[in-house]
Amino acid sequence: MSAPETSYRICLLPGDGIGPEITAEAVKVLDSLGAVEDVGFTFDEALLGGAAIDATGSPLPDETLAKAKAADAVLLAAIGGPKWDTTDPDQPRPEQGLLGIRKGLGLYANLRPVRIFAPLRDASSLKPEFLEGVDMLIVRELTGGLYFGARGRETGVAGAATGGGAGMRAFDTMEYHEYEIERIARSAFEAARGRRGLVHSVDKANVLESSRLWRAVVHRVHAAEFADVELVDQLVDNTAMQLIRNPAQFDVILTENMFGDILSDEASMLTGSLGMLASASLGDGTALYEPSHGSAPDIAGLGVANPLAMLLSVEMMLRYSFAMDAAADRLAGVISGVLDDGWRTRDIASPDTPADRIIGTIAMGDLVAERL
Ligand code: IPM
Ligand code: MG
Repeated sequence: MSAPETSYRICLLPGDGIGPEITAEAVKVLDSLGAVEDVGFTFDEALLGGAAIDATGSPLPDETLAKAKAADAVLLAAIGGPKWDTTDPDQPRPEQGLLGIRKGLGLYANLRPVRIFAPLRDASSLKPEFLEGVDMLIVRELTGGLYFGARGRETGVAGAATGGGAGMRAFDTMEYHEYEIERIARSAFEAARGRRGLVHSVDKANVLESSRLWRAVVHRVHAAEFADVELVDQLVDNTAMQLIRNPAQFDVILTENMFGDILSDEASMLTGSLGMLASASLGDGTALYEPSHGSAPDIAGLGVANPLAMLLSVEMMLRYSFAMDAAADRLAGVISGVLDDGWRTRDIASPDTPADRIIGTIAMGDLVAERL
């Protein structure tokens, strides 16, 4: 057999908890997809998060960032766990590794699609009739805002004694530059053009100065370049409510980092399980793909984790980084087919799922790989 003409190098970051288990399924699926498509995938594994802290003392070793930059795409599973939980600002945290790699790769646009898989309708905590037509994309700004603004603590603050505290003050800053708002707005409007052509720009412009700049810049970009797309401003507290009241009204939600973090977890529950949500983080260089769920330390090593969000992240990688749309469509079709046939991991099983249809991580990966 001759070597495939096209080959892609993927940097794998299994991270912590269930990360290594779901990463193994992604590799399995990419291997079988590569064989069918005659595309070579090579893998370069690196440490991130808690695993990296244990091995090197740093949540993002230099070698990891270098490997990520050198790759054609990065596939990240999940990081974090109780072992590394601390409120001591001097101790390293796994999350710093994730934030560091986002910043280090310049991944300012985080795309989180939320779609309902018909056979999982009953897994949602909302009544099925509210899920009719739900298909949205959250475009979350990922390298600015509160996550990256100035922060710190100060001791011996004047007047603190009257508050009964120990005289300590802590602060985080929500900060946005015009160019950061412009480029994420473009990402959202462009995405909307390939969808239903509607963008809800979510902010807190009735209170926050950064939101007032956000709103002004989004409108300027819209008027100058995307007048064909419909733009609606919405306050974030209202969005939180509308997501439950009438989720089908949304097409693209454009929002800043922290609001996007919160709203995407909320929206994920429309699907019934965080285990079904993929994400892509794009910038000007290598892109990164990761499931939206965490490292689920409570079920790590048990072989029951749902690998589908990871596999759906692979689907996004095929589309956005390798322009392999046909292969991505096929993978998506196979995943839907497996669900249509009643196969479930534990998190997406319902009370009437027959026991012999509830399968583990490896069996789910096998099913997808075989059907490809
Ligand atoms: C996410 C996660 C991360 C975030 C954490 C783990 C730092 O919640 O990707 O949504 O807040 O961005
Ligand atoms: Mg989050």
